[in-house]
Amino acid sequence: MHNDIVNTIHESSLLFSNYEAGSGIKKALEMGRDDILFELKASKLKGRGGAGFPTSTKWMLVAAATGADKFIICNADEGEPGTFKDRVLLMNAPFLILDGMVVGGYTVGAAHGYIYLRGEYVYMRQFLEDCLNEMREKNLLGNNICGKEGFNFDISIVMGAGAYVCGEETALIESLEGQRGEPRNRPPYPVNTGLCGAPTTVNNVETLAAVPHIILMGGEKYAERGTSASSGSKLFSISGDCEKPGVYELNWGITINELLAKVGAYNTKAVQVGGASGICIPKSKFDRKLAYEDVATGGSIMIFNESRKMLHVLKNFMEFFVEESCGQCTPCRIGNQKLLEGVEMIEKNQYTFAHINNLKELGETMKVASKCGLGQSSPNPFLSILEDFKEEIFHAKSDGVYK
Ligand SMILES: Cc1cc2nc3c(=O)[nH]c(=O)nc-3n(C[C@H](O)[C@H](O)[C@H](O)COP(=O)(O)O)c2cc1C
Ligand code: SF4
Repeated sequence: MHNDIVNTIHESSLLFSNYEAGSGIKKALEMGRDDILFELKASKLKGRGGAGFPTSTKWMLVAAATGADKFIICNADEGEPGTFKDRVLLMNAPFLILDGMVVGGYTVGAAHGYIYLRGEYVYMRQFLEDCLNEMREKNLLGNNICGKEGFNFDISIVMGAGAYVCGEETALIESLEGQRGEPRNRPPYPVNTGLCGAPTTVNNVETLAAVPHIILMGGEKYAERGTSASSGSKLFSISGDCEKPGVYELNWGITINELLAKVGAYNTKAVQVGGASGICIPKSKFDRKLAYEDVATGGSIMIFNESRKMLHVLKNFMEFFVEESCGQCTPCRIGNQKLLEGVEMIEKNQYTFAHINNLKELGETMKVASKCGLGQSSPNPFLSILEDFKEEIFHAKSDGVYK
């Protein structure tokens, strides 16, 4: 195991438990494609990159798509503010992820996989290359893997281009192809028309790491963890005002209150769940559950105590989105600027409620009119922080009321 600078607390103890490299691949090759998809479906595994799309469905669609070449991509761009769990997983459990890619490659019929690695993670590149070489020596990569006639598969690492939007799967594919990392129109979806026009599955690091365990323990057993709609364990990146920040592996369904107690957080005023593009939960709602059916998250948890000013938090997020919008579509390019201007007007006490109410409508419009997930989710903190912290943020005004 590699030491990382963050705490890793494995209460659910699945992803970081002992795993014999290659064992998931060997079992999967004995099972065959249909059984792998059956177990994945039974596991109810949903994508850990944030959107929560069922992994079995995605792999089934790529397996069923027509195309001579198919690809599997490990999304290791990890650009969401407050997220660092993939980094810890890559350094501590690399073979789990790489084996997950091999199993994925076999299941969908791909001969090549790519790891799209966040630019700042360049320091781990050699370590991952060494892991890949070790796998080649053991015939866990290469031709006729583990004696399976005709199953040829290898993995390359490509460094990310350094923009948040490059984590969005179609922008990532553009970037992998050597173009500017800008999102594509969808449909067509990558499962049919992905990398170089070929059927492609893009999966988060943590999603892939769950696969070998599901293969070894069986889908039903995996689904016993968590809740009925959110199966398995989840990695949470915990940062902010608490005594024990770090990466926590916990079962889905834990309440925010329970989580705060575990990480030693006191006098907590707000918890931002899901990164900058997530939602901000006030103290009165700390009994909500972290689960797809309640507060869904890719795993970023930022804790703010009573000393923090929520308008300042919001300004920080909106500056990030203005900086990171790729500028392709108007709702996101202009909308984020307008929302930031609104925050600055509140800061200077130069706002009117009529204007703020218009900005809230603009935020709702951005959610439906933006081309990709960045603009569709960037109004989330604006809408949730203004709503739940209005007493702190606004002063009495004569021009109207906050609606
Ligand atoms: C702006 C933006 C950034 C994203 N960044 C990441 C990322 O860094 N890592 C990731 O796995 N998914 C990211 N996603 C989600 C991906 O588009 C995609 O849904 C995910 O990689 C699919 O994998 P999964 O099904 O395993 O979750 C991002 C989405 C958006 C809109
Ligand atoms: S929503 Fe934003 S990031 Fe996405 S395509 Fe439009 S401008 Fe680019």
